[in-house]
Amino acid sequence: MAMTIGVPRETFAGEKRVATVPEVVEKLTKLGFAVCVESGAGEAASFSDEAYRAAGASIAPDATSLYAGADLVFKVRAPDATELGLLREGSALISFIWPAQNPELMQQLAGRSLTVLAMDTLPRQLSRAQKMDALTSTASISGYRAVIEAANAFGRFFNGQVTAAGKIPPARVFIAGAGVAGLAAIGTAANLGAIVRANDTRAEVADQVTSLGGEFVKVDYEEEGSGGGGYAKVMSEGFQQAQREMYAREAREADIIITTALIPGKPAPRLITAEMVRSMKPGSVIVDMAAEQGGNCELTEPGQAVVRHGVTIIGYTDLPSRLSRQASTLYSTNLLRLTEELCKAKDGVIDVNFEDDAIRGLTVVRQGEITWPAPPPKLPPAPAPKPAAAATPAKKSGHGHGASEPASGKTLAGMFVVGAVLFGLVGLYAPASFLAHFTVFVLACFVGYMVVWNVTPSLHTPLMSVTNAISSIIAVGALIQVAPPGGDGSRPDELIRWLAVAALALTAVNMFGGFAVTRRMLAMFRK
Ligand code: NAI
Repeated sequence: MAMTIGVPRETFAGEKRVATVPEVVEKLTKLGFAVCVESGAGEAASFSDEAYRAAGASIAPDATSLYAGADLVFKVRAPDATELGLLREGSALISFIWPAQNPELMQQLAGRSLTVLAMDTLPRQLSRAQKMDALTSTASISGYRAVIEAANAFGRFFNGQVTAAGKIPPARVFIAGAGVAGLAAIGTAANLGAIVRANDTRAEVADQVTSLGGEFVKVDYEEEGSGGGGYAKVMSEGFQQAQREMYAREAREADIIITTALIPGKPAPRLITAEMVRSMKPGSVIVDMAAEQGGNCELTEPGQAVVRHGVTIIGYTDLPSRLSRQASTLYSTNLLRLTEELCKAKDGVIDVNFEDDAIRGLTVVRQGEITWPAPPPKLPPAPAPKPAAAATPAKKSGHGHGASEPASGKTLAGMFVVGAVLFGLVGLYAPASFLAHFTVFVLACFVGYMVVWNVTPSLHTPLMSVTNAISSIIAVGALIQVAPPGGDGSRPDELIRWLAVAALALTAVNMFGGFAVTRRMLAMFRK
């Protein structure tokens, strides 16, 4: 029997999102489900009952009737006591739950024999799971909105401008923590024209910061900041001291600071002290995205915007709700992707398959039994570590030819001997004219090899197009063939001459096209 998906109105104060939007209702219906939406559920996100009805949903007048008819409930926020009471015994719930922070709720959910999938326990490291990753979609919305809130509270332009009245310098934005939210903030602030600098304890994000238009600022202290699974760890006292000094310097310079630093299961690291706030210019803005987890800034008041020492400190905890239509659309698409995985047969019935690592990770309660935390998912083996920077050219050549193992010393020695013998034979028996060409050829191969292997792999494509353009040097051959008769009165054959003209035209395309393509490709790497 096909299941009914129930979508209630969110009751948490200030929550404006809704777990399903009309566009997704249509797709859920195609999977065989019936969808019932509580009247007014989408109102705060600008989705009317009418729009849901038009998409094929039925409308329940109130929460009681909605929960009574639902086999599977889609929610944004974890259920409160009233909602828990309304959930039908034996039904299923998909929502944010945060089981580590809510042990009591977990017991209550189990007590009602429910099956509960928590969107926040998705094994994010599975590439297959990315389409269901509501943490990522929510964090990127929050990062974007944090910049908009900062821009709203900031009394100046973000981008630098030269006006008749004078020159306006661009705003300086410093972002603490370059995870999903931090990266979204970097991209948004850079697009608005600000100078963006960012820091994170995980050094591997430096490239991502740069690619979004920011500059990565390193803490002058060597310590690995990765705590596993792509998350951070608590750093040593020595590191924290060095980081504080760097942040104090940045705070003096910055117009806007956006903090996003979090460590799973721990209070948010204190990065911005009261002293740093005091050192900022009047009119500066801090947006503390970690406000709910205790705040990255000492003076943050969760849920509020306050002015301290002339600096506006924004600690809003409802950033996704401030973009409720967008946040609801992305969240409901994540839920749709999950439902597709749960209902492969498209028969309107879910199958909570524990063989599937993503579904196993998400399931925190199964028919009244607590199944959280899930065992770590089976991941494909990590790629072999890169050869050390001091790798010999011989090793590099093995890598370059796609060999999975660098050539062993013995093989290399053998190759050298064979090469030397071949060169010896050529030197002994080849005519002198050939030898001159051959020497140039060997040197060209060597120089080419050294040039190519010293170029970063990401620039190999522009390198190919430029070498392609340079190869048009063969144009010289064609030029000789179309040239007027030489001093000896000889004339090239007419046919050869016209062929040379055609060759010249084609080579010109190659030459100018090659350089043009290279320019465009290099422009993509420039900021
Ligand atoms: P998060 O919200 O837990 O933390 C935000 C950022 O704060 C992290 O980048 C963290 O390194 C940083 N941070 C923590 N302590 C800090 C300190 N003292 N100073 C400066 N920065 C500090 O992390 P989020 O955004 O949920 O994602 C963490 C990582 O997981 C990201 O690199 C993300 O790309 C990765 N991820 C990977 C996925 C995948 O493999 N498919 C999916 C989603 C995320």
